[in-house]
Amino acid sequence: MNAFDALLLGKAPEFRSVIRSAQIAAATNVSVLILGESGTGKELLAQALHQESARAKAPFVAINCAALPEQLAESELFGHRKGAFTGASGHSPGRIRAAAGGTLFLDEIAELPLNIQAKMLRFLESGECQSLGETAPSTVDVRIIAATHRNLHQMVQEGRFRADLYYRLNVVPLELPPLRRRRGDVNLLLHALVEQLAARHDLQPPRFTPRALTRLEGHGWPGNIRELKNFCERMLIFSAGREIDLEHLPTGMFDVTCQQQGEGAFTLPAEGIRLEELEQAMIKQALDRAHGNRSRAARLLGLTRDTLLYRIKKYTLGD
Ligand SMILES: Nc1ncnc2c1ncn2[C@@H]1O[C@H](COP(=O)(O)OP(=O)(O)OP(=O)(O)O)[C@@H](O)[C@H]1O
Ligand SMILES: [Mg+2]
Repeated sequence: MNAFDALLLGKAPEFRSVIRSAQIAAATNVSVLILGESGTGKELLAQALHQESARAKAPFVAINCAALPEQLAESELFGHRKGAFTGASGHSPGRIRAAAGGTLFLDEIAELPLNIQAKMLRFLESGECQSLGETAPSTVDVRIIAATHRNLHQMVQEGRFRADLYYRLNVVPLELPPLRRRRGDVNLLLHALVEQLAARHDLQPPRFTPRALTRLEGHGWPGNIRELKNFCERMLIFSAGREIDLEHLPTGMFDVTCQQQGEGAFTLPAEGIRLEELEQAMIKQALDRAHGNRSRAARLLGLTRDTLLYRIKKYTLGD
């Protein structure tokens, strides 16, 4: 099994196409820019790219650019000679040299201080790394993978990220879809993660009822796979070996659904609404979320299947 399949679970077409591109990129030395919301698996993808590359046996060095203190960023990355600045008591090769022959993972690249962005670009273009206090640069061979949850393109347009560095990094962009765009994978990930965690904690995995699964598939998962994984761990710890139905799901997590139940949940705007349009939109969303499965869509709307079928016909929403 290759590292992509071993580390990254998922069958949704939106996800598989990213993995296919990643497999092609892994065999090369090109810079890769991984995009995607928080918790979508950017770091995991970077690790898989490294493991599937010819550099697999050399180091994988991850740098969190958001955690680099601005004053120390340059010496942390490029190294320094003894006495290069006050407090530089010894010689330090820097993190870039630590990745020599391997992969340098620049995580949260959008947070790289502007003054370092210029120096990073120079390094990417020439492969030359110059420590603070050193008179001449030396060549370091590293493959760059960068990641961010931010809209880097927009940051470039707003002048908050150097355009030249952006284009240099963005040779192969890989955008991981949020979990809500790969709903078919919720079920698969849920079961796989519960099994994995159950084995780790030496507990029996809980079982989810179809109703609970439908609710979970309909959840927005703003924290993506990290949120799903934490949820699995929580369910495992508190309900090992038991059945999990709707009432066992944590209330806070499904706030939107809870708020929408009962009177007064929706407030009528002063200008009024078009109830029929709203109803049609909700039906379309429910069908979409249930992948066209009408029984499941009906459950999402709190309707019987027959009532939903009647309304689909009434609004001629069926295909
Ligand atoms: N496809 C996947 N299959 C299995 N586990 C996954 C997958 N994607 C992510 N994970 C798990 O979800 C968690 C979050 O993944 P990761 O840290 O790679 O996300 P990220 O995109 O780097 O998030 P952030 O932007 O917040 O740093 C990790 O525990 C990771 O193991
Ligand atoms: Mg990350």
